[in-house]
Amino acid sequence: MNDCAHAAIGVFDSGLGGLSVLKAIRAELPSEDLLYFADSGHAPYGDRDESFIVSRAMTVVDFMVKRGAKAVVIACNTATVVAARQLRDAYGIPIVAMEPAIKPAVELSRNKVVGVLATSRTLASESVSSLVARYGQGADIRLQACPGLVAQVEQGDLDGPVTRALLSQYLAPLQAAGMDTLVLGCTHYPFLMPLIQALAGPGVQVVEPSAAVAREIARRTQKLRHPLDGKRNGATFFYSTAEAADAQARMSALWGKPVAVHAVAAHDGT
Ligand code: DGL
Repeated sequence: MNDCAHAAIGVFDSGLGGLSVLKAIRAELPSEDLLYFADSGHAPYGDRDESFIVSRAMTVVDFMVKRGAKAVVIACNTATVVAARQLRDAYGIPIVAMEPAIKPAVELSRNKVVGVLATSRTLASESVSSLVARYGQGADIRLQACPGLVAQVEQGDLDGPVTRALLSQYLAPLQAAGMDTLVLGCTHYPFLMPLIQALAGPGVQVVEPSAAVAREIARRTQKLRHPLDGKRNGATFFYSTAEAADAQARMSALWGKPVAVHAVAAHDGT
């Protein structure tokens, strides 16, 4: 089956968070066909072991390549730190990945106290340690894991009491340290931006990298542009391993308008 008339850019996440990246890509590349795969049937990836995440990432990219993906964005920090290398080794197409925006945050920060919110697995990764070592010199970088937050966004709870309590708890030590800049190192968290900004206060600037990732995929696919680039609106195709009606309602809510979601069997994704 090939739902895309022309080669598309494939974007995937453990669930719905990557829709925040998809929005930025759609704004940057209005003519391109985009294919989004939410592996919500297996979210959060953070609770899974590494071999499971690698195997899911391979299966999902395989699925997208079979449907004509000419390039892939790993719109998930956790899948990036665990599986980006294997995906790049396995596929000869451009693969753009996420990384917490620690470098720009340190540059932006006036007092050089920077908070980073992400999943435990992302924060424990070699990639984050090396970003901190490379760009964090002379700065106080506070890494804060946020268990439970991905699940709140998956459930569509963007500002209820549980989400608010979790965020207050995770922001408290960063606020006590005096951070003036906060990095969102998980693609689910931009959907909590209004609440995060309200809780962190106006003195804290919140940084997330989706616009930079969108520019990067635009640059990497420049020679692969849709033939009618600039003369058409690209289509967006949505897939999910969650139960169909549920996926449709939740993706539509976060995307901001009704979308048709193709359900994919959770056990394989082919
Ligand atoms: N959106 C994913 C990320 O950026 C969430 C990871 C997870 O499912 O644990 O890390």
